[in-house]
Amino acid sequence: MKLITAVFKPSRLDAVLDAVTEVGASGVTVSEVRGYGRQHGKTEVYRGAEYEVRLLPKVKVEIATSSDLVEKVVEAVSTAANTNKIGDGKIFVSDLESVLRIRTGERDAAALVG
Ligand SMILES: Nc1ncnc2c1ncn2[C@@H]1O[C@H](COP(=O)(O)OP(=O)(O)OP(=O)(O)O)[C@@H](O)[C@H]1O
Ligand SMILES: [Mg+2]
Repeated sequence: MKLITAVFKPSRLDAVLDAVTEVGASGVTVSEVRGYGRQHGKTEVYRGAEYEVRLLPKVKVEIATSSDLVEKVVEAVSTAANTNKIGDGKIFVSDLESVLRIRTGERDAAALVG
């Protein structure tokens, strides 16, 4: 099992949710976050003065998935989040040790089916 953590532009959230539903993700967790990548945010001009905006608003979507679905989900997120501009975001994939569905006690693969 893998945990996919994607950080991308808030304007792409609906498209990403549609795309991951389409490929069969059984659930998602969404957080509003702030962050920066290699440009370290950006500099904005407001009423003639320059303000450094160090942390830009992003959304973080976490999806736990079986290993055989991971590439499909990553591809779906990547395509839906892409605007071809800086700050489009990143997708992190990590090993996921276990999953427990609290209501039923089902674990791992059984806890991930939708
Ligand atoms: N190395 C990282 N570790 C943790 N979070 C990161 C990392 N890189 C990017 N992020 C998160 O992803 C968001 C978007 O990153 P961003 O797309 O700007 O990455 P980038 O490497 O600067 O690529 P680009 O040149 O396309 O902008 C950041 O605001 C931050 O929240
Ligand atoms: Mg960047």
